[in-house]
Amino acid sequence: MKITVIGAGNMGAAFVKQLSLAGHQVTVTAREIAKAESIATAHPGVNAASPALAADQAEVVIVATPYEEAVNALQSVGDLQDKVVIDITNPLTPNYMGLTIGHETSAAEEIAKVLPGVNLVKAFNTVFAQVLAEGGDFGDGRKVTVFIAGDSDDGKDKARAVAESMGFATIDAGGLKNARYLEPLAGLNIYLGYGAGLGTHIAPTWMQDA
Ligand SMILES: NC(=O)c1ccc[n+]([C@@H]2O[C@H](COP(=O)([O-])OP(=O)(O)OC[C@H]3O[C@@H](n4cnc5c(N)ncnc54)[C@H](OP(=O)(O)O)[C@@H]3O)[C@@H](O)[C@H]2O)c1
Repeated sequence: MKITVIGAGNMGAAFVKQLSLAGHQVTVTAREIAKAESIATAHPGVNAASPALAADQAEVVIVATPYEEAVNALQSVGDLQDKVVIDITNPLTPNYMGLTIGHETSAAEEIAKVLPGVNLVKAFNTVFAQVLAEGGDFGDGRKVTVFIAGDSDDGKDKARAVAESMGFATIDAGGLKNARYLEPLAGLNIYLGYGAGLGTHIAPTWMQDA
């Protein structure tokens, strides 16, 4: 799949690594092209591009910026109408121990409101960058879960294909509105990882008794 990653931070770099290992055609972009280039050069076949050119051919665009910059970042790559956008953001307070919005909306819904017609899917927001960087497999048959919420089957199918190609298990978490649940779940994960000292090699999942 042709996938563009916006953002050259912890999550952006981890996506570029794992997407390229999974055989996707990956382009990475950042506000400073040098940051995108430094990630791209570490992975054969990955391209770095300026925002204006980065998503021309993309089927999927992953926005890996802080929530507050997500709309700017998405607008900087041009027309998104024929693409699936994966929103991985969490609307965190400055100390990472709380959410700035919730209950009656979510980061995903707020982004979607500003970008009408864009096929936006919430996914990967409960996966720590350190986990993503190692791929979706904890070993012993245990796969890390990616929860996927969105309003279009096509968008969720593409997000599922992206996640599974990197070794993750997936759970369809319903419509985009359910990002209201996924973002607090990420908040709990961050608390457990950093606040309670479990570290960043943890991930939430769901159990079902057959
Ligand atoms: N880290 C995690 O474990 C984790 C897990 C799940 C979800 N998330 C979410 O994933 C997102 C990224 O997290 P992160 O840890 O990767 O953050 P990060 O390391 O701070 O990286 C954020 C990146 O976004 C870039 N950026 C900011 N505004 C931009 C814009 N307008 N256009 C293009 N790039 C822009 C920054 O570029 P500059 O260097 O130019 O500032 C930086 O490279 C956040 O929303 C976070 O809540 C993080």
